[in-house]
Amino acid sequence: MEGPQERFVQGPQQSGTLYQRVGGIEYFKELVDRFYAKVEADPVLRPLYPEDLEPGKNHLTMFLVQLWGGPPYYAMERGRPLLRMRHLPFAIGQAERDAWFSHMSACVLESDVDRADATMLIDYFEKASQFMINKE
Ligand code: HEM
Repeated sequence: MEGPQERFVQGPQQSGTLYQRVGGIEYFKELVDRFYAKVEADPVLRPLYPEDLEPGKNHLTMFLVQLWGGPPYYAMERGRPLLRMRHLPFAIGQAERDAWFSHMSACVLESDVDRADATMLIDYFEKASQFMINKE
């Protein structure tokens, strides 16, 4: 039985990697699918992306899997992330960044993860997307 001195000593359960907690690769596939559906319908973002969205979708999924503790599929296929450099061909200003981040954070909030994990994901996307800005 749990005595009074054992209460409140533990925060929300956060065991393993975020990748494991959200349910592995399927979670990221679905997140990226839903995100890309929003990109496709967005007049600010759509022109930045190539006609065929499938390769980029796959790269983003593999990158997120690797980042959150899953297998290093991105490294195997693409090598070092060098994300800022890889984004230089696309003109990303505050408006593009805000559109990207608002779609991604909406997708995380709509997804089935607990609050602590949703917060971690959104905090990461907020900072990383700001870092990707490459035009005034
Ligand atoms: C700030 C707004 C952003 C815009 C407008 C943007 C846009 C793009 C575009 C146009 C591509 C090329 C897609 C293709 O070739 O099919 C791309 C690729 C990619 N983006 Fe972003 N992106 C943004 C932020 C981010 C952030 C925050 C991340 C971090 C998760 C990210 C991760 C990636 C990855 C992993 C790729 C594939 C890179 C590769 O070629 O291996 N992007 N992005």
